[in-house]
Amino acid sequence: MDLSGNTVLITGGSSGIGLALVERFLKAGNEVIITGRRADALADVKRRFPAVVTEVSDSGSAADRVSLVATLTERFPGLNVVINNAGVQRKVDLLQSEPWEDTRAEIAINLEGPIHMASLWLPHLLRQARPVLMNVSSGLAFVPMAAVPVYSATKAALHSYTLSLRHQLRKTPVTVIEVIPPAVHSNLGGSHAFGVPTDEYADSVMKQLGEGRLEVTYQFSEKTSQASRAEADEMFKRINPAD
Ligand SMILES: NC(=O)c1ccc[n+]([C@@H]2O[C@H](COP(=O)([O-])OP(=O)(O)OC[C@H]3O[C@@H](n4cnc5c(N)ncnc54)[C@H](OP(=O)(O)O)[C@@H]3O)[C@@H](O)[C@H]2O)c1
Repeated sequence: MDLSGNTVLITGGSSGIGLALVERFLKAGNEVIITGRRADALADVKRRFPAVVTEVSDSGSAADRVSLVATLTERFPGLNVVINNAGVQRKVDLLQSEPWEDTRAEIAINLEGPIHMASLWLPHLLRQARPVLMNVSSGLAFVPMAAVPVYSATKAALHSYTLSLRHQLRKTPVTVIEVIPPAVHSNLGGSHAFGVPTDEYADSVMKQLGEGRLEVTYQFSEKTSQASRAEADEMFKRINPAD
């Protein structure tokens, strides 16, 4: 994709990978709009990057998605890049039942959100000259981490959906991109202080986007996304040791 001259929406742009992309898209000469649930976190980003437009909006809420798209299509008729980045990750012990609302909320943010956003944004994107729809999945879409079972399942489903979306849009101008991160230093799950440094990772994402990659992978996620079933089974054993 062209890395400049776009109007870019990044959901969940106040932290981690989203925030690192905000910085880079701004620097490359794009108008950037971000969402998040916490107004204070968005205000912090606005202080650092006054050009950013912020909107409090919950990707897990259908009503919020509808009103976000209505507001932004009116305010930014040239918005041409939608990045479904917002996501949450929870450790879940499947032997302990939890309130369904907790499970449902994770599915709503990670999976319903991007699917609904694609449906809401497509009529608008089809009218743009260089439209891009980007979903942020995970290396765990291909090899699940059993401690985060709902998360891993939502990302596997998001990968599947993105393949279908790309196929169905193949005769349209919309470029469908899947960003498949490995473990990256961020606030995912409360604290994700391990993995690839965020800046190193975001630099690679921008480079790969500029090269026209439709599946943006890095290190661990390059391996999981390309693995044979036997290799994936081996990786599963490595990341989910049986004590
Ligand atoms: N870091 C990793 O190792 C890793 C690996 C693979 C994939 N990913 C994916 O990368 C994406 C970004 O994650 P990250 O690691 O950068 O996490 P992060 O540091 O926790 O950032 C998540 C961002 O999303 C926002 N967000 C969360 N729930 C939201 C909701 N319901 N509506 C709107 N915004 C919401 C958060 O702001 P609020 O809390 O204020 O809403 C925050 O700005 C996620 O989709 C994640 O699954 C990350």
